[in-house]
Amino acid sequence: MLALVFLGLLATTDAYIWPSPKLDALESLRFDLDRHSFASLLKPCDLFISDGSNSGRSNAADWIRNAYHDMATYNNADGSGGMDGSIRFAEEQSRAENAGDGFKNTAKVLFQEANRYISVADAFAIGAIMAIENCGGPDIAFRGGRVDAAVANSPGVPEPEQDLDSHIASFARQGFTPTEMISLVACGHTFGGVQRDPFPDIVPEVNDANNTESVLHFDTTNVHFDNNVATEYISGTTQNPLVVGFNDTTNSDKRIFGSDGNVTMRSFANDPTLYASTCAELFARMLDTVPKGVQLTEVIVPLPVKPDGVLFSLDGDTLKLSGQLRIWNTTNGSRTVRLLWDDRVGGANNFTLFSLKVNNNAPRTPAAWYLFAPTPPRTSFIPLDPVAGMTTMRFSVDGMLEDQGGVGFAVDDRVVFSESSCRTSASSTNLAARYDVAPFNSQVRNGVNPTRVYLEEDTFNDVPLSVVIETDIPPPTQPIVPNPAYKIWSVEVSVNLTNPNDIIKYSIGAEINGVKITDNGKHILTDLPLCPGVSS
Ligand code: HEM
Ligand SMILES: *[C@@H]1O[C@H](CO)[C@@H](O)[C@H](O)[C@H]1NC(C)=O
Ligand SMILES: *[C@@H]1O[C@H](CO)[C@@H](O)[C@H](O)[C@H]1NC(C)=O
Ligand SMILES: *[C@@H]1O[C@H](CO)[C@@H](O)[C@H](O)[C@H]1NC(C)=O
Ligand SMILES: *[C@@H]1O[C@H](CO)[C@@H](O)[C@H](O)[C@H]1NC(C)=O
Ligand SMILES: *[C@@H]1O[C@H](CO)[C@@H](O)[C@H](O)[C@H]1NC(C)=O
Ligand SMILES: *[C@@H]1O[C@H](CO)[C@@H](O)[C@H](O)[C@H]1NC(C)=O
Ligand SMILES: *[C@@H]1O[C@H](CO)[C@@H](O)[C@H](O)[C@H]1NC(C)=O
Repeated sequence: MLALVFLGLLATTDAYIWPSPKLDALESLRFDLDRHSFASLLKPCDLFISDGSNSGRSNAADWIRNAYHDMATYNNADGSGGMDGSIRFAEEQSRAENAGDGFKNTAKVLFQEANRYISVADAFAIGAIMAIENCGGPDIAFRGGRVDAAVANSPGVPEPEQDLDSHIASFARQGFTPTEMISLVACGHTFGGVQRDPFPDIVPEVNDANNTESVLHFDTTNVHFDNNVATEYISGTTQNPLVVGFNDTTNSDKRIFGSDGNVTMRSFANDPTLYASTCAELFARMLDTVPKGVQLTEVIVPLPVKPDGVLFSLDGDTLKLSGQLRIWNTTNGSRTVRLLWDDRVGGANNFTLFSLKVNNNAPRTPAAWYLFAPTPPRTSFIPLDPVAGMTTMRFSVDGMLEDQGGVGFAVDDRVVFSESSCRTSASSTNLAARYDVAPFNSQVRNGVNPTRVYLEEDTFNDVPLSVVIETDIPPPTQPIVPNPAYKIWSVEVSVNLTNPNDIIKYSIGAEINGVKITDNGKHILTDLPLCPGVSS
């Protein structure tokens, strides 16, 4: 009883305090589906790659299998393997236990969402959760903080021709009991099926214009989460190729589902709610099976009121603030939302935000978005006095104060992008630009003496692992002072594109009193205007 009460409390009180760049990014990828292009690949649920619904395959099924195969290398005995993104390596993809191109397809999409805050393994976990939740499944608790492996794991994914004892041993190594094995296979195999190309001995050519890759599906609703995998199995009508395949050696689902005398499968067939809750728990455990030493975050729940993309930039003697505010779980975009803020000179200020849209795209829950812009939006920013700047935001929603229980929403205006940045070359392949950065001027006001200011490029090394490449911006020899508050530091960067479609973007970073800060901006090189005197 006590334990239940405690759990109930946890579920309602563990929202984190904004800003927390890693949690902000994970929360956004988990909940703001309309912000991330991968989510459109699940609409509709039978979509495969970006444009096909007639292949017999689906992104949703690929992404779920991808997560299981990433995890299935886990070894309970020494804590090695597990969800660590190692399925992205060609070495793992080329093993017989990982037959098919589903892993390559999945990595291509979900890799795009990874960065310094979101590991590839976290992106894989979120992809699987989104596939399940969007396509009829239960809510799944998500924790972040998976760490990407630098090398392939030892093999360990079960294969259909192995016998029951091997499968029981394999799931035990992964941390699951024989009953949990039955459940987890039944939960995974509500999606997708077996394809002919990687499994020609299991699947014949089906000659169906709506199933061009010849996939025999595990149940009749193979892009929808439901207990049909169990009802069809128990009623004896199943077409599951791993149950009724002509070669009994590869009928692994038949051996697994029947291994407890059908007790588990019958309970799932009789009770769709039990099936869904069991799957929600086991999927979460599967995704949270990580190498020893990896510390996952608390379960990430959506912030009720969340600033997003908050960014300062300096335009001469105007300090511009751009950003958005998300109000979770509402369809009402007509509230009066004010940004109230404290500044560096003791002022109390407010600005009424522009109602942008109500987004019904979130997995289940609608959200209303308000833009840091006037109504009607004559600009896409709030103009500030650079001397006063801004230290803490609060919001008032129809007069109700939202300030994270009194702490407010802290912002950092000490080192900002300057809009005097410009391209020094008009070439489309040999890109060159001058980036101007404006540290708050310590000669005017006490405060800021950055030891370093630099551009940050969020990228991947050859492994591939996420890395941030820093390009130092030297202090100016002759201070350029656009206004009384800031001075300008600048650096010229030059990049030769190997792929003309690559987009080069930088964040602004600085080290102040030994602490690194970043604006998390995405200052795109080709979006900069040409410098004076440069012709296109
Ligand atoms: C003994 C354990 C298991 C065996 C032998 C097994 C075997 C297979 C095989 C042979 C395929 C066909 C793959 C293809 O043609 O691309 C498949 C597909 C799939 N498996 Fe499993 N599986 C097992 C457990 C699991 C588990 C635990 C999950 C997830 C929780 C899972 C999720 C999936 C999904 C979603 C697909 C469909 C992929 C698609 O249609 O693209 N499997 N499985
Ligand atoms: C393919 O699916 C469409 C839409 O569900 C259906 O109208 C058509 O008859 C199907 N074609 C074949 C060959 O099964
Ligand atoms: C059945 O599958 C096993 C394992 O893939 C294979 O060795 C065997 O030759 C197959 N039997 C037939 C009759 O195809
Ligand atoms: C489990 O159910 C299936 C389908 O009804 C049946 O064919 C099989 O014999 C059952 N197995 C056991 C061990 O009861
Ligand atoms: C959304 O808000 C309603 C009340 O307005 C509440 O009943 C519901 O539980 C909330 N849903 C979520 C997912 O927070
Ligand atoms: C939305 O909120 C506004 C402001 O509180 C209120 O006047 C309006 O009635 C609400 N609309 C709906 C549909 O609840
Ligand atoms: C907003 O600021 C104006 C002055 O600019 C002030 O009159 C008004 O009371 C303020 N509103 C709130 C909610 O603080
Ligand atoms: C880009 O290519 C040009 C011409 O080949 C070369 O002069 C320049 O050094 C290269 N720049 C970089 C950053 O590699």
